[in-house]
Amino acid sequence: MDTRTRIHWSPNKRDFLFLGIIAVVITLLVLGTKERTTKPVPNDEVHINSTTRAACMTCHGEQGMRPQPPGHTKADQCFQCHRQPDDWRGASR
Ligand code: HEC
Ligand code: HEC
Repeated sequence: MDTRTRIHWSPNKRDFLFLGIIAVVITLLVLGTKERTTKPVPNDEVHINSTTRAACMTCHGEQGMRPQPPGHTKADQCFQCHRQPDDWRGASR
């Protein structure tokens, strides 16, 4: 008779607890990334017709009606981070 026993993994309570914790952690990480997503550029008349950075900054510059938040990047490529409106009229990026 073969004395070697094949190992069957039958998960016990602790295994389930462990898997549960992993699932919770992954869920939180996924939700966490989602929360940090940068706001898209609204797909409205104003935004689809603003085709230069200067145009954007008339409203989103420091003196504008809706300034970028303090400490915002000075980077020019708005659409690198803020999703370009679907109907944008400018040249493709
Ligand atoms: C005529 C003024 C004006 C211009 C020009 C303009 N915006 Fe806006 N923008 C606004 C206002 C007001 C809001 C907030 C209200 C809304 O959601 O429409 C806004 C909202 C946004 C938002 C969403 C964040 C938020 O505050 O809700 C982003 C991102 C944005 N604009 C980027 C841009 C970019 C990039 C350009 C140039 C392509 C641009 N805007 C041009 C006035 C402007
Ligand atoms: C490198 C990435 C990056 C680039 C490039 C960028 N932004 Fe942003 N922007 C962000 C992030 C991240 C936030 C959110 C900051 C915060 O909540 O403190 C933000 C926030 C904003 C907001 C305020 C949104 C709100 O919550 O009301 C406006 C308006 C905005 N950006 C406009 C612009 C414009 C206009 C340009 C181009 C000149 C631009 N951004 C380029 C990353 C970027």
